Amino acid sequence: MKKVLITGGAGYIASHTNIELLKGEHELVLIDNFINSSAEALERVQELSGRSITFIKVDLLDSAALDSVFVQHPTIDSVIHFAALKAVGESVEKPLDYYTNNITGSLNLYSAMKKHDVRKIVFSSSATVYGDPDEIPVKEDAPIRATNPYGHTKAMMEQILMDTAKAEDWSVALLRYFNPVGAHDSGQIGEDPNYPNNLLPFVSQVAAGIREKVVIFGDDWDTPDGTGVRDYIHVTDLAKAHVKSLEKLANSSGIHIYNIGTGRGYSVLEMVKAFSEACGHKIPYEIGPRREGDIAEVTGNPAKAKTELGWQAELGLNEMVESAWKWQSQNPHGYNS
Ligand code: WQD
Repeated sequence: MKKVLITGGAGYIASHTNIELLKGEHELVLIDNFINSSAEALERVQELSGRSITFIKVDLLDSAALDSVFVQHPTIDSVIHFAALKAVGESVEKPLDYYTNNITGSLNLYSAMKKHDVRKIVFSSSATVYGDPDEIPVKEDAPIRATNPYGHTKAMMEQILMDTAKAEDWSVALLRYFNPVGAHDSGQIGEDPNYPNNLLPFVSQVAAGIREKVVIFGDDWDTPDGTGVRDYIHVTDLAKAHVKSLEKLANSSGIHIYNIGTGRGYSVLEMVKAFSEACGHKIPYEIGPRREGDIAEVTGNPAKAKTELGWQAELGLNEMVESAWKWQSQNPHGYNS
């Protein structure tokens, strides 16, 4: 049994990753401050997996509390670092909150790893570090051109980690997620944001009648139907990429960067239509103005993850929207249902 410390361990991506890790020889120690997650998710992960987990409520800005986690668990073998604020729009309004939480929190984590000689880490990064890439599907060697404070924090956390890994001989996997969507096929865990900043949770709440209509941010983009195109990936496929990454780090030192996407893009209108078919009724929408900072299209080239991790996305658009609708239907008010 290898012990894995998971920051942001109660969150959306982490919960789905925990399910996949608990299928294997992993013992999980989760930390979270519940700023954008729920303790209920921890209960459901244990119910679904039939295994227990260790949870400690810790804010990464509390370096003493973070250090005591490593003292209490001296056999921590690796870390998966999910904890971060991640709403692009909010990062523009509150940049200092984002730099403080994401960068200082990561510096505390990396320092604790160094102090306790933990040398393997999988980092939750984001395709947003590429900004508006020159070439799509984008490859891992594309220039880093973040265009918002959130994206800058992810790029900085990557750079700090790469420099530290070189100095300390750590094994690092940087996973650049595209657009995670969907939910575990049980419908028992899923995305439960404080506010639905992203498309799918918003569409889901409109489908459930919680919100009135979807506003499509522009239909005059240079795309086939004029609406934005993104590389949506089922969260369970994304979760499996983390398991494959830990396996890779068990035998490889150095830094490994992977795009975790499908390589296939869908437009906003295609997503709304697919969700309508999943929920069985039309979803009201209107065309509104473009959103500040948005780009027309971005998809990822996942070839490197396939070659080096033996990973590729397996679930398609129907599984993405049907699982999202099942989670929404079974949990109209998320984990507070
Ligand atoms: C998707 C498409 C919008 C909402 C962001 C972050 C990225 C990652 C995923 C954290 C775009 C359109 C959206 C709505 C709309 N997050 N849209 N109406 O912006 O591609 O990526 O979230 O890691 O880092 O950058 O995701 O879901 O916000 O937007 O028309 O109410 O849906 O214009 O084309 P995005 P999104």
